[in-house]
Amino acid sequence: MATFQNSLPDLTRPFPPVDGPAIYIETYGCQMNTYDSQAIGGLLEGAGFRLVDNELAADAVLLNTCSVREHAEHKVISRVGEVRNRRRQAELGPVVIGICGCMAERLGDDLRKGPKAVDLVVGVDNYDALPGLLRGLTGAAAGTGGGRGAVTGHRLDAHYVAPPELYPVNNSHLVTIHKGCDYKCTYCIVPMTRGPQSEKAPDVILAEIADIVARGGREVTLLGQNVTAYRWQGSADFGPLDFAGLLERVAGIDGLERIRFLTGHPRDMHTHLMDVIGRLDKVCPWLHVPAQSGADTVLRRMKRLYTAGEYLDMVDHARRVIPDVTFSSDFIVGFPGETDDDFRATLDLIRRVQYDQIFSFKYSERPGVPAARLADDVPAEAKKARLAELMDVQQGIWARTAQAQVGQVVRALGEGPARRPPGAWRLRTPNNRKVVVLGPEVPAGAEATVRLTGWEATTFFGERLNA
Ligand code: SAH
Ligand code: SF4
Ligand code: F3S
Repeated sequence: MATFQNSLPDLTRPFPPVDGPAIYIETYGCQMNTYDSQAIGGLLEGAGFRLVDNELAADAVLLNTCSVREHAEHKVISRVGEVRNRRRQAELGPVVIGICGCMAERLGDDLRKGPKAVDLVVGVDNYDALPGLLRGLTGAAAGTGGGRGAVTGHRLDAHYVAPPELYPVNNSHLVTIHKGCDYKCTYCIVPMTRGPQSEKAPDVILAEIADIVARGGREVTLLGQNVTAYRWQGSADFGPLDFAGLLERVAGIDGLERIRFLTGHPRDMHTHLMDVIGRLDKVCPWLHVPAQSGADTVLRRMKRLYTAGEYLDMVDHARRVIPDVTFSSDFIVGFPGETDDDFRATLDLIRRVQYDQIFSFKYSERPGVPAARLADDVPAEAKKARLAELMDVQQGIWARTAQAQVGQVVRALGEGPARRPPGAWRLRTPNNRKVVVLGPEVPAGAEATVRLTGWEATTFFGERLNA
């Protein structure tokens, strides 16, 4: 079920048995899209559609898309062609194809033109239009490009609630706590595609999490582009609340064991917030705090609103007050005007922080964002070389961090069977490290004490001590 207002969701399920049109949803981009796909799935099931897991079994395919880099958009456009080809090869009739998510918002009706034209385009705040549109399109001559124009545009009050009985991700249930973004990082398309920041009401969030727990969930990941900037102004139902206050309220939910959150903006990672995170046992000691660059000149041109020194102060404070805290980050290489010295400053920051994990990207110019006015002047070869060097430095840092963990005893929570080796079980520590153990089953959600015996890539191997 989904709700479009800041009001309590309708929790009267289960879904009716369905044999309606079959819908396949494929998700690109960030966790916010993963959550939205869950909400769309719930909406459609509630309206009598059936969810399937591939395009050949579907009457309609929805691609929930990302615009953050040019490459992400290209992937989706070629996927449209691929879906049509695969259907033809399998000698199946045409299928309705819809684009949802950030590309729908950015490109709108343009997606309904040209050789890769799709049947339907629905932006991030208009998913309540999907059942009606899909009913029309799957009932009529499918794949003929009929249907309404793009349904896009931002509605501040449109907040979706994904059905909690569906889809935990890595054993954690995603819970979007707000949408949009009020920052104006100059490279970033998100403020255009997701619109202004708008908070889901605290009582809606708390009810959603209580429902997840009532259905057996033990861990949630609070989601937003800047969860640390969460700010409920106060309403008849709930007084004013910032992110630290929200964490305290969520931690008060009986039966919930772990709380993670993504993404924190370094500027909003105040000392008070870090103190609260350190004090609340349920809040996992893992901070994903994208730095983007270690050079103050670049950070200024990016409008990130902190200096490298302030970022390092934040890291120092977190290390003081959050036991066993680990960090992860995003970096962009080759931002306009980035010199070799600027890039060295980024490597220096990376060496000082000692991240567990880094997601690094070559700068990709996005139409209409402020940085598009700056010349994209770092040559492609230099971007490629910097990205490779950054990843190399990070690999060395992680190798030392991981090796130092061997022999340590950690507590970790089961996440189900591991992909390999056969018969192994996958677990995750509170600070977001993956562990694989052999032996008796560690059921999803069960806690185990594990001695780390080795590691490969980003995964530790371990042996259970309390089997
Ligand atoms: N709200 C988060 C993340 C936003 S998008 C934050 O503020 O950190 C996820 C990541 O994509 C960003 O952290 C950034 O590293 C990367 N990114 C965003 N726009 C980009 C662009 N134009 N080119 C390359 N990488 C980009
Ligand atoms: Fe984009 Fe910056 Fe907002 Fe993150 S904080 S979503 S990078 S504008
Ligand atoms: Fe991509 Fe939109 Fe998320 S641009 S990163 S799917 S908010």
